[in-house]
Amino acid sequence: MNMQRVEDHFNQDASDYDSHIVKFVPYYREQNEMMMELLPFEGTARPRGLDLGAGTGVLAEGILRRYPLAEVTVFDLSDNMLAAARERLKKFENRTTFLKGDFSKDDFGIGYDLILSGLSIHHLTNPNKQKLFRRIYLALNPGGVFLNRDIIKGATERLDGIYIRLWRAYVRSNGQDDAGLMERYYAEDVPACVEDQLEWMRQAGFVDVSCHWQRTNYAIYGGHKYTTDNES
Ligand SMILES: C[S@@+](CC[C@H](N)C(=O)[O-])C[C@H]1O[C@@H](n2cnc3c(N)ncnc32)[C@H](O)[C@@H]1O
Repeated sequence: MNMQRVEDHFNQDASDYDSHIVKFVPYYREQNEMMMELLPFEGTARPRGLDLGAGTGVLAEGILRRYPLAEVTVFDLSDNMLAAARERLKKFENRTTFLKGDFSKDDFGIGYDLILSGLSIHHLTNPNKQKLFRRIYLALNPGGVFLNRDIIKGATERLDGIYIRLWRAYVRSNGQDDAGLMERYYAEDVPACVEDQLEWMRQAGFVDVSCHWQRTNYAIYGGHKYTTDNES
């Protein structure tokens, strides 16, 4: 995948991302809420979080609100998205760190309790997704959690066809150009089916690997990191 193309696309989209994304991603706000509900820590915890491909920082904000003692690293490829995230998160300034980078090759740090990603990992080829899952596993503390909310491919071509038809109808019903969306989708996106991704997470070492939420071609899935010391 050409990361320069992805970076250019998101640099252009940053200013109206938040108002546009709900017209393209069904149940977007429900997904954001579900990501937070799935986090296993008490509100009094002090988790270190990472938002990978953070965009305007919607998931980082969720973590910072849910955990008043949390610190979050906001990681993204696009300068304009990072600028929008800085603006959104300015009231949490003392608990946020912003890092520009490409998560397929650049360092995103270690020692996290939560790593969340939204609508971003599907830009990587499948071998690069597998590599990233291994690096995410290594970057987590024991007891840590990884959750990915992403666009996925249907488990069979027939199912994928149904999901794409429904997705296009949703986009059209919001007055948007579904043909243009499809052009970008086939040029920039490499979605993989959930079953494959769950298997890649298990191979990376994760346990409690599961898909927690799915509606057609959008899903929330992830796993936990346990070592023999904290295994229940
Ligand atoms: C569709 S936006 C998602 C934003 C937000 N996470 C959400 O859930 O709404 C995808 C973001 O991922 C970033 N991105 C894509 N590929 C990336 C990569 N390899 N490394 C870092 N950021 C990446 C883009 O710049 C963009 O800001």
